[in-house]
Formats: sequence, structure tokens, C-alpha cells
Amino acid sequence: KGSIHKIVELPDGVQNIMELQVFPKKDPIQSMILDHKRAALYVGSANKVVEIPMDMCRVYRNNCESCLLARDPYCGWFNGSCQSVYLNREVHQNLNLDAWQGKCQKGDVKEADDYQNIAVVPFSRYYLNCPIESHYATYNWYHNNSLIKTCNTTHPQQNCFHFIQNVSHVHYGHYICISEEDGFKQALVKERLVNQHRFMSQKGQATLTLGSWLQLLLMVVLVVLFH
Ligand SMILES: *[C@@H]1O[C@H](CO)[C@@H](O)[C@H](O)[C@H]1NC(C)=O
Ligand SMILES: *[C@@H]1O[C@H](CO)[C@@H](O)[C@H](O)[C@H]1NC(C)=O
Ligand SMILES: *[C@@H]1O[C@H](CO)[C@@H](O)[C@H](O)[C@H]1NC(C)=O
Ligand SMILES: *[C@@H]1O[C@H](CO)[C@@H](O)[C@H](O)[C@H]1NC(C)=O
Repeated sequence: KGSIHKIVELPDGVQNIMELQVFPKKDPIQSMILDHKRAALYVGSANKVVEIPMDMCRVYRNNCESCLLARDPYCGWFNGSCQSVYLNREVHQNLNLDAWQGKCQKGDVKEADDYQNIAVVPFSRYYLNCPIESHYATYNWYHNNSLIKTCNTTHPQQNCFHFIQNVSHVHYGHYICISEEDGFKQALVKERLVNQHRFMSQKGQATLTLGSWLQLLLMVVLVVLFH
């Protein structure tokens, strides 16, 4: 299927920490070479070769918990970011059986941004899409604070979808996707669905008011000129 897995052997067992789709069209992988000196993996299909750095630490969101829970031996937390061990050997990691909680300070958690407004037309379809970043976390979608979907990640999949087949007034409101792993919760997606028709009519009114105001101004100018 053209995807590769990054597997780590840890004292408490083997963990699948990353799944990557290397080529855009799921081209089958023909060869792989791991270059320890350059810390890179070379992956080849029938007509392409890509270089994948071993220390892709940016994929683990820049918060301490995600960085440590990822348990990637090439990455760790230091000075407010998830950094490569090649840049900094002092990083905090969570590769043994110690509890990770003590290693993160309170200020290290970053809150997800506020709700993103999305205008959706009634009777249309809409997908809510939450990225699955860890196979060891549960992903829940909430609508107006009630649980509407839980994703089981035992069967590898890329995203946690919630499909709205026919948008009606009950579907508007606040949606939030929260991941939970080892007691650590974080909001990954926050969307507020708004009725596009109402949204547009409000904008329409605003232009109309501006339009009539300009008309009035023009009349005043004309009156002044004719005097
Ligand atoms: C920590 O990061 C800040 C900028 O984010 C940088 O100015 C500072 O030099 C860094 N400190 C260390 C010890 O790397
Ligand atoms: C969506 O729902 C409305 C009424 O709620 C119905 O008239 C319409 O046929 C539905 N559309 C689809 C595609 O199911
Ligand atoms: C997820 O898996 C657990 C344990 O196997 C099960 O109890 C739960 O019902 C599953 N949830 C869904 C949404 O499939
Ligand atoms: C959710 O909240 C929105 C906006 O307050 C409302 O329009 C919608 O009907 C609510 N839906 C449910 C199922 O609570």
C-alpha cells in the first residue's frame, strides 16, 4: 500500500509510533535503505526515491506531552519545542518505564486555537476530520459538548471522520475533537459550523447599507454642484 511504519522497541514492548504514506498515489515501495550516518531513510518506488529524516519531530505538535508520548528516540522536549536529538542531546524523552508526567511543566501545554468558523449550506454534506496522530490515543468528537463519535484506533486509519449526510439546523454549532492518551487530553480540531445562508444575508445587508450611504453622498455632492 506504499506506507511505512516506524516501530520502536521499548522496555515495555514494541510500539508503532508512526505511519507514513510516502508517495502521493500509494505507489508500491520497491526498496528501502537506512543510512545511519545521515540519519535518513531512503525509500524507492518504481520511479522515485525520497529521503525521510529520522528526526521528523515537528509532526508531534509542539507541546511537551505529545512530544514525550510519541516515544520517538530521535525526538525530545527542550526549551519549549519538540527537537531533534541531533540538534540537542539534552532533550527530555520518555523511552524507559518512568512516568512521563513529571517531565512536563505546567506552562508547556499549548491550548489549541479558538473555534474556526465554517459556513455550511443547509442540505449539504459535511465531513468533520480529526487527524489520528497516535495509535495509542482515543479520539472523540463532541457536538455542543455531547459525544457524537469515538474512533477506535486499533485498526490503523489515518483520520477520525464524522460524516453529516444532510446538514440541517440541528447540525450547526460547536464541534471539537479531543484526543486522550495516558490521562493527557488535548483539543485537536475546533470548528463552529454556521448557516451559510444567514451568514451571507448578514453580509448582504452590510453592503446594502454601505451602498445606500454612497448613493446619499452622491446626491449631496450633486445638490452642492447644482447650487
Ligand atoms: C530557547 O529558545 C529561545 C527562542 O525560542 C532562544 O532565544 C534561546 O536561546 C533558547 N535557549 C536555549 C538554551 O537553547
Ligand atoms: C435533506 O433533508 C431535507 C429535509 O430535511 C430533504 O427535503 C432533502 O431531500 C434531504 N436531502 C438529501 C440529499 O437527502
Ligand atoms: C472500541 O473498542 C472497545 C474495546 O474493544 C469497545 O468497548 C468499544 O465499543 C469500541 N468503540 C467503537 C466506537 O467501536
Ligand atoms: C448546537 O448549537 C447550535 C448553535 O447554538 C444550534 O443551532 C444547534 O441546534 C445545536 N444542536 C444540538 C444538537 O444541540
